[in-house]
Amino acid sequence: MMDEDILRLLKKHPSTFISGEELSHRLKVSRTAIWKRIRHLRSLGYEIEASTRSGYRLVQSPDILAPPEVKPLLKTKWLGKTIHYFHALDSTNSKAYDLANRGAEEGEIVIAESQTKGKGRLGRNWFSPPYLNLYLSVILRPEISPHQAPLITLMAAVATAEAIEKSSGLRPLIKWPNDILLNGRKMAGLLNEIKSETDRIHFIILGIGVNLNIDEKMFPKEIRSIATSMKREMGEGVSRKDLLASLLRGLEQWYTVFLKDGGNVILESWRRWAQIKGRRVKMASFGETIAGRAIDVDSDGALIIETKHGERKRVVAGDVEYRR
Ligand code: BTN
Repeated sequence: MMDEDILRLLKKHPSTFISGEELSHRLKVSRTAIWKRIRHLRSLGYEIEASTRSGYRLVQSPDILAPPEVKPLLKTKWLGKTIHYFHALDSTNSKAYDLANRGAEEGEIVIAESQTKGKGRLGRNWFSPPYLNLYLSVILRPEISPHQAPLITLMAAVATAEAIEKSSGLRPLIKWPNDILLNGRKMAGLLNEIKSETDRIHFIILGIGVNLNIDEKMFPKEIRSIATSMKREMGEGVSRKDLLASLLRGLEQWYTVFLKDGGNVILESWRRWAQIKGRRVKMASFGETIAGRAIDVDSDGALIIETKHGERKRVVAGDVEYRR
């Protein structure tokens, strides 16, 4: 907590010095302890001027998602109260999985500024350059049956679409099951991992990646025509920490509704964001190609497709192509 407390005091009087003595008095710790935290904050990129006579002054805060920047913005009751923050990770999902395996609690989150092995769906990579986008994993421990887990994925897609709309004013489309598109290009993706027994979930890792301030030119060639970012769509960047705070709030609210009232409310909202009924779709699922019209998603979040022969197929995973 102390980093946040120090920054709160420094930010209160942006251009003036606060003495080490005052800080140590207010926070009830030694001056040496204060100095240690100041050094730590500097290592995170905070520019803090120190003078033996006058004390400390905050010159500039970095654009990072470290707890001292994020926590003051959080409006959640329990989600994100513990933040595991890293400059670089292989994958926030892998880290969160590991932490959950060792007993991390529901609501703990993992954030990285970059990922070296960001994981996408169906074994793909997620392009994760530093300090531009959002790479987030949330640990949940719902007491629900494993077959309901896909609903949590749909819920997270709804919360992500809402957070994007709130910060941009643009209305994204959710593409089944959980890609978030703007103007036909993908801005965000979700990869949820689950550890369960047949009838009990140990934990779910909600992995969310949102392309925010990355320039179109920075995307690798292979995905440049199909990927987009907030910056590309709006012409300007957005505050990553504001978007994160709004996403966490939405997730907490939707999750609470889901546990209390079940999946129907989630499905209704998902349907509004996805507009899937009647779309002509084609997809490969477990080696089979299925084409036809999307009828709906069922109560477990599976996609129901009617082929041209009138046969109904139920698909639980795969990559769907929307056709005209
Ligand atoms: C997709 O293929 O659409 C899913 C992409 C999910 C990317 C996010 S970034 C944070 C989290 N950590 C990962 O390794 N992947 C997810």
